[in-house]
Amino acid sequence: MSTRIETPKTGTRSVDHESIRRYYGQVLTKSSDLQTDACCTAEAPPEFLKEALRDIHPEILDRYYGCGLVLPEALEGATILDLGCGAGRDAYLLAKWVGSTGRVIGLDMTSEQIEVARRHQAWHAERYGFANTEFHQGFVEDLSFVPDASVDIVVSNCVVNLSPDKPGVLREAFRVLKPGGELYFSDVYADRRLPESVLRDEVLWGECLAGALYWNDFLGLAREAGFTDPRLVKDRVLSVDNPALQTRLDPARFWSATWRLWKLEGLERLCEDHGQVVRYKGGIPRHEARWSLDHHHAFVRGQSLKVCGNTWRMLHDTRFARWFEFHGDFSTHFGIFPDCGTTVPFSSRHDASGSASCGPAGCC
Ligand SMILES: C[S@@+](CC[C@H](N)C(=O)[O-])C[C@H]1O[C@@H](n2cnc3c(N)ncnc32)[C@H](O)[C@@H]1O
Repeated sequence: MSTRIETPKTGTRSVDHESIRRYYGQVLTKSSDLQTDACCTAEAPPEFLKEALRDIHPEILDRYYGCGLVLPEALEGATILDLGCGAGRDAYLLAKWVGSTGRVIGLDMTSEQIEVARRHQAWHAERYGFANTEFHQGFVEDLSFVPDASVDIVVSNCVVNLSPDKPGVLREAFRVLKPGGELYFSDVYADRRLPESVLRDEVLWGECLAGALYWNDFLGLAREAGFTDPRLVKDRVLSVDNPALQTRLDPARFWSATWRLWKLEGLERLCEDHGQVVRYKGGIPRHEARWSLDHHHAFVRGQSLKVCGNTWRMLHDTRFARWFEFHGDFSTHFGIFPDCGTTVPFSSRHDASGSASCGPAGCC
């Protein structure tokens, strides 16, 4: 399958699935074959992860090309779809945490990757004491084998940038998610739209750089797909660490970022204050005393916090509800939430009495 698409915000992208497939099937056979650090996870894994990685087959660890950590919390019993699962490292990690009542579906277009993932299914089933994984060969732009609203969480690690049809991937992820489900994924982003010379470079595509979206275009595409309030979980600066390739990319700069995109009814475009308060009761596995929804919202056990309507819904209408107490509703609106929305865009300000006031420069 070869695709040529026009994306108005990012220019014409001429991408061949075949060249990406060749890159991940034949050019790369192990993580150390990568020419840059873009498809690598830089930080040292936390202790719980180190322990879990001991239960992953070494051949799978050897073919890991992810750029972030796609391990959302509270997974027991969940159905998870891993887009571009590669040899299956994340799929097998998640399989352990969803447990015997959950299910992990891996999808990748590269037969060499899927073959490695499938080859070790029995090995992992024996190690875990249950079999709950399946691996499909196919395109992340076409999830027609997955019914509407059937998946709790969609994950993806360093794959969306490789797709020639990113709006299609986001639309399909939205379709297959259950209401209250989330797309939790890591990917590479650029600080600008990249020029044609970069977009035509096969190595830069394969290394997850040429296909990186300008971050602000990504936010627009996510909203258009139905993910009204994208939440950033984590980000880090990507160093290309290859002078020849860096020259071809200059002056663009890149990040790896992990996002939470919720499929939720009623989300507003910005964070509106309805006077709602939540209190974390504690207890989310591995986050008993403190848990972060995203890089902006950390909840400490026993502490009450004022939250915007969107954050309320991300807790109240999702799998996290059981760990929170909720106070308030949507009956009263107090304006924009200054900490996670924006301020009033108008330059003239009202004073406390509600009448117009002028800044030091005076009114015109
Ligand atoms: C950078 S690797 C990441 C693999 C895996 N997520 C990991 O962390 O090891 C990108 C993977 O996405 C797959 N891929 C790229 N574009 C795809 C597409 N349009 N549909 C399905 N798989 C795709 C490639 O075959 C490759 O296995």
